[in-house]
Amino acid sequence: MFLRKPSAAAGFVFTLAALTLVSALTLPLAALGESQTGRVVGPAQAVTAAHGMVVAQEAQAARIGADILQNGGNAVDAAVAVGFALAVTYPRAGNIGGGGFMVIHRAGGTGNTGGSDTTIDYRETAPGAINKKSFLDAQGNADPQKSRESALAIGVPGTVAGLALAERKYGSGHFTLAELIAPAIALARNGIAVADDTADSLPVDLPRLKRWPSSAHIFLKADGSPLAEGDRLFQPDLADTLEAIARGGPRAFYEGPIAQKLAAAVQAAGGVMTVDDLKAYHAIERAPIRGSYRGYDIVSMPPPSSGGIALVEMLNILEGYDLTRARQAQELFLMVEAMKRAYADRAWFLGDPDVVQVPVARLTSKRYAAEWRATIDPAHATAAADIHPGITAGAVQPEGRNTTHFSVVDRFGNAVSNTYTLNFSYGVGLVAAGTGVLLNNELDDFAAKANAPNAYGLLGYAANAPGPGKRPLSSMTPTIVLKDGKPFLVTGTPGGSRIITVVLQIVTDVIDRGMDIASAVSAPRLHNQWMPDQVIAEPGFADDVIAVLRTRGDTVVVEKLPTSANSILVTPTGLVGAADPRTRGALAVGY
Ligand code: DON
Repeated sequence: MFLRKPSAAAGFVFTLAALTLVSALTLPLAALGESQTGRVVGPAQAVTAAHGMVVAQEAQAARIGADILQNGGNAVDAAVAVGFALAVTYPRAGNIGGGGFMVIHRAGGTGNTGGSDTTIDYRETAPGAINKKSFLDAQGNADPQKSRESALAIGVPGTVAGLALAERKYGSGHFTLAELIAPAIALARNGIAVADDTADSLPVDLPRLKRWPSSAHIFLKADGSPLAEGDRLFQPDLADTLEAIARGGPRAFYEGPIAQKLAAAVQAAGGVMTVDDLKAYHAIERAPIRGSYRGYDIVSMPPPSSGGIALVEMLNILEGYDLTRARQAQELFLMVEAMKRAYADRAWFLGDPDVVQVPVARLTSKRYAAEWRATIDPAHATAAADIHPGITAGAVQPEGRNTTHFSVVDRFGNAVSNTYTLNFSYGVGLVAAGTGVLLNNELDDFAAKANAPNAYGLLGYAANAPGPGKRPLSSMTPTIVLKDGKPFLVTGTPGGSRIITVVLQIVTDVIDRGMDIASAVSAPRLHNQWMPDQVIAEPGFADDVIAVLRTRGDTVVVEKLPTSANSILVTPTGLVGAADPRTRGALAVGY
């Protein structure tokens, strides 16, 4: 039985009276934080639009999506165009050499009925030669060098198949795939001025990129320094690859000369991906994870992402409490307790649903949440080891990786929430020679060994062990919240293990606390992932809030979280978008 018996302290009966004993400690709605580069960032700006909107991490890609909407495209058309454009304009995380997840809401007919939701899983798969021992050293210990820094870490890319599947099944038909890829081709061929987050991140990730001449050739100058703000980034090989996809469809990427170049580059770098692995790749349409929260419907990503299950599990636990007061210490404490429990379940139960059985119904049920709630002592922190005994976690690597999220709503009432990634910033750093395709290091998201943390400190067990053709467990949580069957909130974020707790806080800040979307996107956030047994609090929380958590037994570390929750709220008077101010360059644009 996974649930331990509640301790005597945990048997404490939760009452509202206990809550009122806690001093009222409110949080400034849009406290200032700092970006990853030390830049001081202000609150997000709310952008309004009457018809359609795109919020993405890079402005040119966001505008391309908005143009598609304005020219009669639907949200899926726009998302596909943004996805391909970001592969050119935001090479740190936008990609065709990685993978991700798309959640789609399709408007129904008239009234509150109808409408449907689906998801596209375009997560990378492990090549056929990957097995349980692939990421171990000679002593049988997890070897992060293999799973993070070597070509063995490269999963078979899913983005091209995923975007093409989304377009084929759910595009409006007003645009061909080629038309949606065309802006990306032009930007890759003509070059773009390096700006914003790319200028910030290139110097940081230089050591990993310059290991490969094919990557250095694109992102470094002749003197070995990285392209700087204002320099032009030309990607002619990427333009050719995109052109081939535009002409021949996704199979042009997975078979033939491009696939041969991808496999050859990976193998030359010491990896094991073959042309057969590429040929076998397919994106999968899956039923979303569904939950309800105080009258709203949650639609999110199922395994191989853990995001939807963990989000719904945390919301179900929290639904038993009153969170309506402006974020006070007691509410934040309860939220942290919910996080610990959901992340313990994540570690134990979740993996590729095509390989392991995931108890989705149980984990997302209200009854199961009530069982967890009964183990929460409202006055004392539960130690992680008491939630799942006998497990120790190693250190979490510092930040410096990236993923990217964009949200789209169209005038027809459709919505798309898309998060995709190369895992680390610029993936493993290898551009496959002759293709312009920057490759991921996603296979570090497997549990290289039971109890060995991945780069985000996440533990995993048999369910997420590496295996041939298997998809590594993800935390990406593209989410659409519906009210009366219609999109209300579209959100998601990068941030590795922190992704799920960011989405949780945006949802609760908006639904429970009535925050506007710009405030919710800007507000400092908390994170706990069960192991390591610590709470990360972003700068900006009142000292007393941190003090209350510490008094109750939580270890609190104040640290910036590398997240970027580009979100849209649908209000009675129109769309309101907020680009996360934590990272430079994000834009909300609508019409
Ligand atoms: O799929 C996952 O959960 C991770 N590979 C995501 C990585 C990420 O968000 C990095 N961004 N900071």
